[in-house]
This record gives sequence, structure tokens and C-alpha cells, in this order.
Amino acid sequence: MTATLYRPSAAGFDTDRTEVYRRLRDDHPVHRLGEQYLLTRFDDVWAAVHDWQRFSSAGLAEGAGHQPMMIYMDPPRHRELRVLVSRAFTPRRVAGLEPRIRTIARELLDAAGPRADLAGQFAAKLPSRIMAELIGIPEEQRETFRELTESFIETDGRTREESVRRLQRIHDMFDDLLQQRRRRPADDLMSALLAAEVDGQRLTDDELQGFCFLLLIAGNDTTTSLIGNGIALLAEHPEQRAELVADPSLITGAVEEMVRLESPTQVLPRRATRDVELHGVTIPEGSRVLLCWGAANLDEREFADPARFDIHRGAPRHLGFGRGIHFCIGSALAIMEARVAFEELLRHAPQYRLEADRERYASSWALAWKRLPVSF
Ligand code: HEM
Repeated sequence: MTATLYRPSAAGFDTDRTEVYRRLRDDHPVHRLGEQYLLTRFDDVWAAVHDWQRFSSAGLAEGAGHQPMMIYMDPPRHRELRVLVSRAFTPRRVAGLEPRIRTIARELLDAAGPRADLAGQFAAKLPSRIMAELIGIPEEQRETFRELTESFIETDGRTREESVRRLQRIHDMFDDLLQQRRRRPADDLMSALLAAEVDGQRLTDDELQGFCFLLLIAGNDTTTSLIGNGIALLAEHPEQRAELVADPSLITGAVEEMVRLESPTQVLPRRATRDVELHGVTIPEGSRVLLCWGAANLDEREFADPARFDIHRGAPRHLGFGRGIHFCIGSALAIMEARVAFEELLRHAPQYRLEADRERYASSWALAWKRLPVSF
């Protein structure tokens, strides 16, 4: 029975998710899945992210075959890269995007009509357009860029050759653009990354490419999922939605609660660098350890009445953006994008209704709506 308890991409997992996670936390806090071990309790996941010496991000299959990405590195190189990148990806640059986010959100909502699939027509479009502007993709290439990068959530139905071709085109596109920026810098993230220097060190070409690509895989689908999950949660809790309509200053807190309750990134891996004993189980050196942010964020040992959506919860901490040295570098951007998206949606249609035929993605790592039909 326990071998089949956790099957995140199976049909129906979404309906059973809360109960499955509870059983895992209570009865199998270190749950073996072949050569992998799943951690679901808040305290265990929290401890693991603060212990990169034992739970390493390096040497994972996900990081192989790509340019170097800091998400798959340990210190000291991780720290050096993160400091370099932070010189370019500054709070000021992020804050400067707010007016554009608002304009694009309004355009998308105005174009949506009285009935719309808000997953495809709104939640998926806003982050990829913002990311293109942030990175500095020229206007004429944005459509191609959007098509190439819109979703990495669902890989079923796409052949391996197709994925490799897509990755190669993204790679070529970044290569050209970085060369152009090297010749003629502009006011965008790519130019700032090229100029970033710490102690005489700069990012190598491979690291530049790797970071641009990481922004796409870490920042697009996740923010799309957050906005989609929030649209459904607010429709399911009309009294709390009405509070946000009356007082939009509550939206940021509501967005944090959305990230906690329906964490867009449900699970991410580490590698055990030595044998680790936990709850009577030995995780052998070299095993993949899956940190289940989604289950940890529903742990009643940490949160009162954890399955309840409560825009006033004000939880002092959660794991929806990870923690420790790999804490999400884009969390402020994601929260701002979602805040502006909800400010605009609630202004446009304060009482939107969900239609019956919504559909989740089947995904081993993401919690996201594929289709979310809404009428205004
Ligand atoms: C709701 C939206 C988002 C969620 C739920 C999310 C979630 C996460 C999580 C859980 C991690 C930790 C990874 C780990 O410890 O292995 C992470 C790291 C990261 N995120 Fe996000 N993220 C979001 C949005 C963004 C955005 C908008 C960007 C960029 C513009 C971004 C860029 C990154 C990067 C670069 C890292 C790696 C940091 C490092 O290795 O030091 N994320 N994110």
C-alpha cells in the first residue's frame, strides 16, 4: 500500500493530496520510493534546507546536460554566483516592473471577454511577458520566446526530440542576445548581468546562459501556477474575496497564504552526501531526497488548521519559496506580479464565477491549473 501512496502525477491525486500528505507525515515521515526518499514534515524539510553539507543540490540529474545553474550548486560557487546575480537582479529593477505588470494585466483582462479560460489567457501569459521584458527580449522576438518558454510543467505528449529542439532554440536565442548586449548594453537584466562584477570576477558565458534559462524554468510556470491557484481559491471563498475587493492592501497577505496552501512547486530534490538517520530510517549516501514543500506547508505541527485558506493567517514562515541558501531569488517579483494580477482581476470582475470544467495539470512537481474557465 505505502509504495502507491504518493503518486503525484496520477489522476485524482489533487483530490487526495491533503489526506495523502497527512498520512505520509504521520505514518511515513521518511517515505521510500525506490532509490528516493520523500520528506514531508515541516521540521524535517526545514532542517534539510539548512544543511546543504548533508543535503546537497549538486550532482542531481536535473542539473546535468545544461549550462551551470546555481540552483544545482553548493557553496562556495553557489554563494559567489548568487552574489554576482544579485548585483543585477536588484529590488529596484523588480519594483520598476510594476507599471508594466499592471498594463499587461489590464490588456489581458480586457481581451478576455465575458467568458475566458483564465489559466491560459491570463495566468500563463502575464509571467512570460514580464520575464521577456525583465530579461530584455526585443519586441519582435517576444512571441517566439513566449511559445518556446510558456510551459515546462507538462512534458507528456511532447517528444524528447521536440524538447531538445526547444531547449536548443532558447539557447541560441540567448546566445545571440547576449552577444548583442555585449556590443551595445541596454537597460535590461542581461546587460546588468554582463556588467556585474564582484572582486574582479564576472559570470562566464555559460553561467550567463544558465542563469537566463534558470529564470525561465524557476520563474515562469511557478508564477503562472500561483495566479491560477489563487483565482480558484478566491472564487471558492467569496467572503474572503469580498474583503480583498473592499481592502486591496490585504492582497499581499492573501498571496503568501496561496503560496503556502497550494504551493506551486510541490517538491524538489537534494542528494544525501552521507548516510542520514531520520525517524529510524537510514537514507543511504548518494540517495535522492525529495523535499516536499507542499506537504510541509500543510503540517499541523507547524500551522493551526493547515488546510483552511485564511487571508489573515500571517504565518511567520512557510516553505513555498524554499529556505536556506537557495531561498527563491524571485519571491518578491512573484508576490508583486500576483498582487497586481489580483488587484486588476478584482477591479475588472469582483464576482467572477468558476465554470465546472476546470482541469489540473498532471505533474510530478507542480500544482497548477491547466484550464480554468471563468465567467465575469
Ligand atoms: C510563485 C512563484 C515562485 C515559486 C513558488 C518559487 C519557488 C522556489 C523554490 C521552492 C525555490 C528553492 C529551490 C531549492 O531550494 O531547491 C526557488 C529558488 C529559485 N527561484 Fe523561485 N519561485 C517562484 C518564482 C520565481 C521567480 C519569479 C524567479 C525569477 C524571476 C525565481 C527564481 C528562482 C531562482 C533563480 C532560484 C534558485 C536560487 C538559488 O539556487 O540560490 N523564482 N524558487
